[in-house]
Amino acid sequence: MTSFDFFEYRDNELFCEDVKIKDIVKDAGSPAYIYSKNLILKNYREIRDAFADVSPLICFSVKANSNLSVIKALADAGSGFDVVSGGELYRVLKVGVSPDKIVFAGVGKTSEEIKYALENDIFMFNVESPAELANIDRIAGSLDKRGRIALRINPDIDAKTHDKTTTGKKENKFGIDFESASQLIKNIDDYNNIDLKGIHVHLGSPIYSTGPYVQGLEKVYKFVQETLDEKGKEGIEYVNIGGGYCMSYTGEEVKRPRDYAADIVPLIKILGCKVVMEPGRFIIANAGILVTNTTYIKIATWGKKFVICDAAMNDLARPSLYDAVHRAWPVNTDVPMPKVEHPGGEKGDDRLELVDIVGPVCESSDVLAEKRWFPDVKEGDLIAFFSAGAYGFTMSSSYNTRPRTCEILVDGDSFSTIRRRETYEDLITGEKEFLSA
Ligand code: LLP
Repeated sequence: MTSFDFFEYRDNELFCEDVKIKDIVKDAGSPAYIYSKNLILKNYREIRDAFADVSPLICFSVKANSNLSVIKALADAGSGFDVVSGGELYRVLKVGVSPDKIVFAGVGKTSEEIKYALENDIFMFNVESPAELANIDRIAGSLDKRGRIALRINPDIDAKTHDKTTTGKKENKFGIDFESASQLIKNIDDYNNIDLKGIHVHLGSPIYSTGPYVQGLEKVYKFVQETLDEKGKEGIEYVNIGGGYCMSYTGEEVKRPRDYAADIVPLIKILGCKVVMEPGRFIIANAGILVTNTTYIKIATWGKKFVICDAAMNDLARPSLYDAVHRAWPVNTDVPMPKVEHPGGEKGDDRLELVDIVGPVCESSDVLAEKRWFPDVKEGDLIAFFSAGAYGFTMSSSYNTRPRTCEILVDGDSFSTIRRRETYEDLITGEKEFLSA
């Protein structure tokens, strides 16, 4: 089965696994995020198995999708977790994840977050500055704990991602340059409550080639060999190679985990370290769709057709933030979805018309799909936005006081709500008590 088989058209009707999308919406309403549990697990196993030679600790990047039931499904399959806030840590601990499978990244961990993580004995902090290291040391001392850390290196590598999702160039806020890292490692004994365990590198996402990972590891190897003394080298027991592994948003062929592994595993073996990986998008992006109902059709006299739907940029922010392309197609249609989406490209089928699919939010950037050849849809028709499982719901907001959508998990021929739709009442909770009479 390919990724798209878990969301497939049977007799002109979109299914997730063995459930009709239409039936889910009948029950749960629209818009809704719908995830395939078995595809999430398949993707997790694919990346774990591709790197089996170096027995990686896979730490799913919770920012991609932080629903408790998703975390639970992955935890049950053996996954660890990469968190970037006290809130994400709270979620993961709530599900009962073993703390020795939790890594904590982020440039601005507060003292409260550090304390919370130390009290729960997480596996490792990915430290992003000397000031943060000093703070972890101080707090660990006050709690009589040890802070296990990896230094997050900024190797100054252009991973050729979108400008807003690149993290490994020297002008980005992330990580520590090699020279500062070398100083910190030389002086590591000054930090009485810190155990240096390794090096962390995350270059951005999605990264469509293996080159940046290879370059990153080569730089780390050179750094370890040429800069560190024997004691420093001993401290580098783990290398955390971050996330960013791509998946296909448009249907085009892209690298698979085994392709990354072919180039990365030999370097890890040379380094002689244990490896941690932080995939998010690869595991869950294609395992989720956002389904939305068509509210109106509007055709301007000069010819432009707008499909106005009930999902908006507050539900799926990626198109407006990063000009991201998500494939969109009607849930019920006799027109086959093209194998590859080329926005603004050639018209493939006579029955297609050029449309913009837009939401109801009061912003011109509320365009979920621009210049798409699309089958004729009518008010009440459902549309699926594909590859929305990662950075979809987690980046959603209630802008325009729009309740956030529900989330549904499909498993074989059954489905369940894993987050209920917000109500208007939910949206004013936290404010209404302050309303003066
Ligand atoms: N590790 C670290 C330290 C990260 O900062 C990230 C993502 C990951 C792992 C996971 O990357 P992934 O495997 O999911 O690509 N909102 C943007 C993506 C921002 C990614 C932030 N960091 C988007 O929708 O494309």
